[in-house]
Amino acid sequence: MKVFVAGASGVLGRPTVRQLVAAGHEVTGMTRSKGRAAEICEVGAAAVVCDVFDAKALEVAVREAAPDAVVHLLTALPQRLDYKAKDNPFAPTNRVRSEGTRNLLAAAKAAGARRIVAESVAFFYAPAGGWIKDEEAPLNLDAPGDFGSAAAALDDLERQVTAAEGIEGIVLRYGWLYGPGTFFDRVGSQTEDALKRRLPIVGEGSGTFSFLHVEDAGAATVAAVERGAPGTYNVVDDEPAPMREWVPVFCDAVGAKKPLRVPAWIARLIAGKAAVGSATQLRGASNAKAKRELGWQPRLASWRQGFADSEARG
Ligand SMILES: NC(=O)c1ccc[n+]([C@@H]2O[C@H](COP(=O)([O-])OP(=O)(O)OC[C@H]3O[C@@H](n4cnc5c(N)ncnc54)[C@H](OP(=O)(O)O)[C@@H]3O)[C@@H](O)[C@H]2O)c1
Repeated sequence: MKVFVAGASGVLGRPTVRQLVAAGHEVTGMTRSKGRAAEICEVGAAAVVCDVFDAKALEVAVREAAPDAVVHLLTALPQRLDYKAKDNPFAPTNRVRSEGTRNLLAAAKAAGARRIVAESVAFFYAPAGGWIKDEEAPLNLDAPGDFGSAAAALDDLERQVTAAEGIEGIVLRYGWLYGPGTFFDRVGSQTEDALKRRLPIVGEGSGTFSFLHVEDAGAATVAAVERGAPGTYNVVDDEPAPMREWVPVFCDAVGAKKPLRVPAWIARLIAGKAAVGSATQLRGASNAKAKRELGWQPRLASWRQGFADSEARG
């Protein structure tokens, strides 16, 4: 199959392109940088240099690749998410998710692609009711401030993709990515925080995370290119876990001291409402649908295995 990957140079794009090539697909990867284009070519794909906001150039690039499927792995997040920053840390990604998706979808359709697979996240479910959510659960569209803007942009991306006419739309809601290049690798912001004892267990530590190793994310993306009904799929590992469980294991794995325990009201003063909301209210996700309908399952079934393996952690 011919596959066009937007975001081919990213944390998710790299393992995805490599695995698509290994599965025998003819891949064209997109980046804005000539240097990264060379890296894309090194793994056996073709590369095109293009900005998703240049709609005309994008249409030419996708038409020339003539893909059967387009994969949308575009984000523009900072290496550290500062929830108290003056500028909205999600703003560049929000634009990529709204305007970028519009451009990419139009280009995919103009090029006659049959399918588009797009990246969303599995950790924006509304923080009410059960702790593990399936794809039918509502998103946290009422989230305050910057989080609300991120949720709205995710919702926009998902609606554009799943409601698109003339092309099969698949949304993959990936869990918290760990592995090389992520917040959790050896130089990632979460590791830095753990080593500085700035990754505490807040309140009851009930905020529940669903993790996913980047290689498993790549495998799920290949599966969604090849098969599965249009729609939305959580792509997460088998063990959603509250912070009181995973934080001590992560700290131990990276050689940090035991995490501190901090009452929610104190954490709110220091880190802000949004960070405390995440630490105490976040919902995890179920991967049952992706396993059943995409025939995918994570090789690292639990973050426990992944965190313990320094190579996998990156
Ligand atoms: N689910 C998750 O947990 C999740 C999801 C995404 C990101 N993150 C984290 O966020 C951190 C930063 O990652 P990131 O957002 O920078 O993503 P990234 O994975 O490094 O890459 C983003 C991709 O989008 C491309 N891109 C961005 N804007 C573009 C534009 N205007 N036109 C064309 N291509 C564009 C980049 O291409 P260029 O080569 O042109 O830069 C790159 O290929 C990492 O630690 C990562 O783990 C986490």
